[in-house]
Amino acid sequence: MISEKLKKARKYMDYMLKIRQDDQPSFHLTGGVGWINDPNGFSVYKGEYHLFYQHHPYRTRWGDIHWGHVKTKDFITWERLPEALAPDQEYDEQGCFSGTAIETPDGKHLLIYTGVSFMNDENGVMTEYQQTNIAIGDGVNYEKYNLNPVIGTDMIPEGNDLSDFRDPKIMYEDGRYYCLMASRGADGSGEILMYESPDAKNWKFTTVLEACCNQYGRMWECPDFFELDGKQVLIVSPQEMRATGLEFHAGYNTAALIGMWNSAEKKFYREYIQSIDYGLDFYAPQTLKATDGRRIMIAWMQNWTTSTCAEKDHKFYGQMTLPRELSIDNGRLIQGPVREIENYYGELTAYHNVYVNGEISLQKIEGRMLDMSVHIRPAYPNSYRDFRIVVAKDGINETSVSFKPDKNKVRVDRTKCGFPYDIIGIRDFLVSQNQGEIDLRIILDRYSMEVFVNGGEQAASSLIYTDFEADGISFRCDGEAFFDVEKHDLKF
Ligand code: FRU
Repeated sequence: MISEKLKKARKYMDYMLKIRQDDQPSFHLTGGVGWINDPNGFSVYKGEYHLFYQHHPYRTRWGDIHWGHVKTKDFITWERLPEALAPDQEYDEQGCFSGTAIETPDGKHLLIYTGVSFMNDENGVMTEYQQTNIAIGDGVNYEKYNLNPVIGTDMIPEGNDLSDFRDPKIMYEDGRYYCLMASRGADGSGEILMYESPDAKNWKFTTVLEACCNQYGRMWECPDFFELDGKQVLIVSPQEMRATGLEFHAGYNTAALIGMWNSAEKKFYREYIQSIDYGLDFYAPQTLKATDGRRIMIAWMQNWTTSTCAEKDHKFYGQMTLPRELSIDNGRLIQGPVREIENYYGELTAYHNVYVNGEISLQKIEGRMLDMSVHIRPAYPNSYRDFRIVVAKDGINETSVSFKPDKNKVRVDRTKCGFPYDIIGIRDFLVSQNQGEIDLRIILDRYSMEVFVNGGEQAASSLIYTDFEADGISFRCDGEAFFDVEKHDLKF
């Protein structure tokens, strides 16, 4: 049964998408109209890739959270589907918060999500509760289960917070469902709880899978958990982190905890922890296992701190990253843009062995929709102190990626990208290098820049707010260096 609220959202989106004339990114997903945050329910259903997202259809700021819905065959172009969930029940009237999806053995698409509501607590005080619900559907329409919530406040372990209990991650193995929940334990910091069920309807608490112990931020949001290259990866999005060297910046972060999973003991043995993305805008990633076995990740390309800084004239706000292929090498998460991007390559412009001492531009190396790889090497040992690739440049605005070999440091800098707020615009992070040699791959899509260092050892995503006409690119070297550049225009 489709509620009046869902009908209204569907009708509104149908109408708005027809008349909308916004300057949208070309291959980064937005809601088309309205606000989006976290990706939700990134899953394979009947051989197609479905993605849902936190969506406020009517405004470009957070609130009245629905689940928008798209599907894709290649992770680059997306087909819009009708709004999937609206906050239309008592248990989710304050929002259908994040969750995940899975194809059930009997061929249904099951969504599991957080319902937020206000209720009186035992002292009669109005309190926010977060409970877990399911909705079952056919890839277009979803029916909320009549006995929701399936994990209610009564199933939260004693001492854990009742209003920080969200973002269920559902999994299925050997005839049983498992669900990870983001929670806040008695010590006030993030915990990932595991629940188990024979049918995704009747759940019981199993174990605390991992705990922050006040070390990596406070609440941990949006867990994901998967096997990759012989290791087990737990992804979380910590809130309110304090900066740790150049690995974790202050505020909202994303972390990959890499280790081993013993399913008999139901125990995760953590070996490494790292930031997932070192840029300014990346949060709440989700992954799926593609039909060819690749582990693909997508994230919200935004940051809660800047999330109220919507472009005034746009009818949409918020976009997703380009989906990335993941692997593990030497205990590190490696990320690269999905290979399908190559199907959209237009003209190639390449230069090899270019000498630079100062600043140069190269003919036809320009644009705001491109995939560009740059290999930098010193002219002789220690021949340069800083190499900077400047993009989205027009004489006033610019955004850059730079490398300081003596500090092993890459910097992304969007301070002068036209952002009209006094909020941090720089991130520095440590990288590996081979005596001044380094590879940088930059993907631009109108209002964003995603950087991949050394084949994906680090990634850094940032929105840029520069007018689309600013499409200059230059190479600035403090010292002497050589570089190769290959730039593919992207065509849609
Ligand atoms: C993460 C998050 C989730 C929550 C959702 C609400 O960005 O805070 O924890 O479910 O956004 O929109």
